[in-house]
Amino acid sequence: MTLDKLTINHFPRLDYAASEALNTLWTNLSFSGSNMKTFAITSCRPDEGKTFVVMNLARTIAGTGKKVLLIDADLRKSVIAGRYRVSSMSGEMWGLVHYLTGHCTIEQMLYDTNIPNLSLILAGHEVINSFALLDTPNFPGLLQQLAENYDVVLIDTPPVGTIIDAALIARHCDGTALVVKYNTVSRKELAEAKAQLEKVGSRVLGAVLNDVEPNAYGMKKYYKNYYKYSQPTDRINLPYMTKRRNRKKK
Ligand SMILES: Nc1ncnc2c1ncn2[C@@H]1O[C@H](COP(=O)(O)OP(=O)(O)O)[C@@H](O)[C@H]1O
Ligand SMILES: [Mg+2]
Repeated sequence: MTLDKLTINHFPRLDYAASEALNTLWTNLSFSGSNMKTFAITSCRPDEGKTFVVMNLARTIAGTGKKVLLIDADLRKSVIAGRYRVSSMSGEMWGLVHYLTGHCTIEQMLYDTNIPNLSLILAGHEVINSFALLDTPNFPGLLQQLAENYDVVLIDTPPVGTIIDAALIARHCDGTALVVKYNTVSRKELAEAKAQLEKVGSRVLGAVLNDVEPNAYGMKKYYKNYYKYSQPTDRINLPYMTKRRNRKKK
């Protein structure tokens, strides 16, 4: 089957430390179990770096020669097509919402990209009733069908703390990784997110501590309890690529 092609026009390269962190994340995910294929990436809050992590992780895995599919399932606030300046050769861009509402076929919403081994399903257009679209028997069936044709399927989701979508998606994935923006969420919030995911049957594999200053004061203390249930090998510290602001020491 030949798929239409999307071009990802704006996808900044990572620096060395961030690339290494992404390699480690992929290694950890790939060692989480032999038949693990579909991974949801979520977080407690917006802006913790889910989309950044999932996009870069997809590129990292594709670079190893594995066939990767990235699905933008942040149906209410999708940013991938806009931020990464995705364009299509045909001018048409179908997405998950179009498919779930019966407006296109799987083949139409599924695109190859200018990055070898990376396929993409965009969100389509924004909707407010994403819950109703995701909570149907269509969705798990779709994931299963897609997974058959890929080595790895990564799903970008909304935050767990805001709407139920992430849990709805995560329960149909083999595993879930939580992106945690350094010094932003509390232990309680993290524990609640993890509990919410586990309540719906999702396997929480670990956390990606994002936007970290390597020797940040208080880091250990702040997340100590979280580390207790997140195996050290399941955690990577992803530094911010470029310093974008001066931080206040806590
Ligand atoms: N480690 C990082 N290095 C550089 N930029 C980052 C990093 N993490 C997040 N960002 C940037 O921060 C902003 C918010 O991240 P985003 O991935 O959109 O968060 P979320 O998907 O959790 O809402 C985006 O502009 C993103 O590119
Ligand atoms: Mg996002």
